[in-house]
Amino acid sequence: MLQRMLIDKIENRILVGVVSFVGIMVLVGWVAINESARMQSFERQYLARSVERGAELYASNCATCHGTDGLGIGGQGPALNSPHMFGFDYFAEFVTERTLLEQEEQQLNNELDDLREELVSGDINEERRAEILERRDAINERITGDDGIRQQIAMIDEEMLTLADQLLPASDNEYPIRITADGEVQYTADRLAQVSWSGTLYDYVFTTLVHGRPTSISYWGSPGNEVQMVAWSQRAGGPLRDDQIDDLTNFILNWDRGDDWTIEDALAVRQYAIVPGIGGDVEVTGEPAGTDVAAILQTIADEGIRGDVARGEALYNNRQTSELGARLGCSGCHTGGVAGPATVDTWDATLELRLNDPALAGYTAEEYIIESIVLPQDYIVEGWGANMPGGFGQSMSIQDIVDVSLYLRSYSDADHSDGVMQPADG
Ligand code: HEC
Ligand code: HEC
Repeated sequence: MLQRMLIDKIENRILVGVVSFVGIMVLVGWVAINESARMQSFERQYLARSVERGAELYASNCATCHGTDGLGIGGQGPALNSPHMFGFDYFAEFVTERTLLEQEEQQLNNELDDLREELVSGDINEERRAEILERRDAINERITGDDGIRQQIAMIDEEMLTLADQLLPASDNEYPIRITADGEVQYTADRLAQVSWSGTLYDYVFTTLVHGRPTSISYWGSPGNEVQMVAWSQRAGGPLRDDQIDDLTNFILNWDRGDDWTIEDALAVRQYAIVPGIGGDVEVTGEPAGTDVAAILQTIADEGIRGDVARGEALYNNRQTSELGARLGCSGCHTGGVAGPATVDTWDATLELRLNDPALAGYTAEEYIIESIVLPQDYIVEGWGANMPGGFGQSMSIQDIVDVSLYLRSYSDADHSDGVMQPADG
């Protein structure tokens, strides 16, 4: 009796132990299963709220240039809500199919070569010979027959042309598509590919918002009514916090339609991104100045090159292209000190501050200004980053440099009579 109770108890204990162990496992499993669903739902709600806040910020800060619907405004701002922005490729299926067919043809041609070699080698019997000829005919049929590869490729090309014809009106609004004279369709489906951006779209939008596009002023808007995508981050002197920029980015990314973009969507866009330098003939009338500052100054003196302040102003503010046909975009960064030292102070700051820096001992103001233009990385103005692009020695002639420098100098009241650079009219 006592013994039975004892066993009973032990059995009971084991039972209780097993039951509670299983119970705990079930509970842990349940929580684990639901945790990811719970997290997902949490993330969805978080994203939804972020998109909502982004929509408000967008309406009050961005719609004037990009349109309330994000479809862009002619000359004022590019569409953000477009198949191009999200890299939707209308031709993707055709291109894949075409590539596969071309690969198949390549393989068959290789096989043909091998067969031909075997044939001419001579040491094959009749049976093998007949086999080779039969295979050869089959391959030729596959390549050039009625429903062969060539024919299929031609049909794809025709379908691509039909589609391109439908999309072509969008090119009036800068959608990058064209049909060449020999009927080839050329297009860039993806905005990110167009600007060689290798990161994600999120990073692209976020970064654009943080830093703005100082140079956009050179190809947006119209003379006297230039438009610029400014920096929005407080980090870059703009009005928005990083979390607000995150909200705006989420709002913009929420326009993505995945695989469901239609031709109508492409045609509804009022303004696509503009690629500077494409379109319009470049007229070259001078030689690049190069980057040898001493040689540039010497040429100015030797040849008695005189400057034109008004032309310098036009160059600086993108109303005119340089002698190498380039838009310089200086004002985009320097006007108002947006993304570089302010234009109006440049010459006086050179005289009063830069030339007193031991690092520039022995420099003349002219030498410093020219060096700042053709070799901007050689001396970085305190408080600024190395963000001025190089290459102006290639895109500007000596005449351009003299004109632009004299324009910068026109803001200074100091005596410049002993300078090498002088205006034509004084
Ligand atoms: C004054 C007009 C203006 C305002 C306001 C403006 N933008 Fe822009 N934005 C532009 C222009 C012009 C460009 C094109 C820049 C370029 O081509 O490099 C641009 C470019 C962009 C791009 C990059 C598009 C691309 O295809 O490369 C994004 C993203 C963008 N803006 C978002 C915004 C958001 C969000 C706001 C509001 C916080 C905003 N913009 C406010 C004019 C504006
Ligand atoms: C993308 C922005 C950007 C563009 C475009 C740009 N700059 Fe700059 N520039 C800067 C920055 C940033 C600095 C300060 C850093 C440095 O010293 O390189 C600077 C410095 C200078 C300086 C020295 C200013 C000083 O106070 O010491 C001169 C002069 C100058 N730039 C002229 C030009 C001219 C002329 C052009 C057009 C041909 C031009 N910049 C285009 C950003 C730009």
